[in-house]
Amino acid sequence: MNFNEELKAKAVEAEKIIEAYLPKAEGPQKTVIEAMNYSVRLGGKRLRPVIMREFYTMYGGRGKIVEPFMAALEMIHTYSLVHDDLPVMDNDLLRRGKPSTHAVYGAGMATLAGDGLLNLAFETAFLAFDFKEDTGAVPAALKILAEKAGFKGMLGGQVVDVESEGKSVSEETLNFIHEKKTACMLESAAMTGAVLAGAGEEELKKIENLMSLLGVAFQVRDDILDVTGDEALLGKPVGSDEKNNKTTFVTLYGLSGAEKEAERLAAEALSAAGGLSAESEFFNALIRYLVERDF
Ligand code: IPE
Ligand code: IPE
Ligand code: MG
Ligand code: MG
Ligand code: MG
Repeated sequence: MNFNEELKAKAVEAEKIIEAYLPKAEGPQKTVIEAMNYSVRLGGKRLRPVIMREFYTMYGGRGKIVEPFMAALEMIHTYSLVHDDLPVMDNDLLRRGKPSTHAVYGAGMATLAGDGLLNLAFETAFLAFDFKEDTGAVPAALKILAEKAGFKGMLGGQVVDVESEGKSVSEETLNFIHEKKTACMLESAAMTGAVLAGAGEEELKKIENLMSLLGVAFQVRDDILDVTGDEALLGKPVGSDEKNNKTTFVTLYGLSGAEKEAERLAAEALSAAGGLSAESEFFNALIRYLVERDF
């Protein structure tokens, strides 16, 4: 299998696991469940659960306890996209190649669907306690999952992103936004996977640092694709950042400057990966893919 086939196969596996944790749309609150499932089933690259499982396996994990965490992280990620697309945020009508959740269900229901997914994520992750395997690392994994999504993490980045619209933003602030809104969720993926497999504090720090570099590189690429991307391939609108007067690495340094920055960060991430006590050829290839991707 070449890298692209391997990535596809891993994403399909992740998708099956996520699907198993989606609720049945029934009861008087049926509409919100439909909207939640709609958003998750839209697709997407499933990078976070794939990375989580990769790190779990790299550090010797062989059980299924990682599975509810894989589903949980994709639910949190999906909620962040549903809210990010709302008219009061980026106001985008296309997501993962289909109408955004609010375009189908309305802004009120999409807001509730996002809230519903965030809650469902923790309901799902807590199911790990019911597994017959050793559950000793579950509290540590829950702590990472919660903190990296909240005001210290992804949400914190979205806050500064929203507040910075239409303003000129320093490189330092832009780095904060990228690190928090995007890198934190990738840090969460790798760190929860590793901690569930038994990785210790020192190793987790190294993983956090590596994923921070890679996460920022990933968002720089996202900003580039927002300008140069093909909407049909990307599955979301191009020109969204310009429409919303966002400062991005492209507005700060131009396209070629942003490309160089993504390259530089990817090279640093690759070298940081070399310093880990575990290794995965697939993950090293994924680093390259994440800064070269077209969608
Ligand atoms: C989109 O993430 C939001 C960012 C953090 C840039 P992805 O590019 O991973 O989106 P999906 O999950 O594949 O749709
Ligand atoms: C948002 O960044 C990242 C999130 C936490 C959702 P963007 O606003 O650039 O993400 P896209 O381009 O809409 O996916
Ligand atoms: Mg946004
Ligand atoms: Mg957006
Ligand atoms: Mg974007």
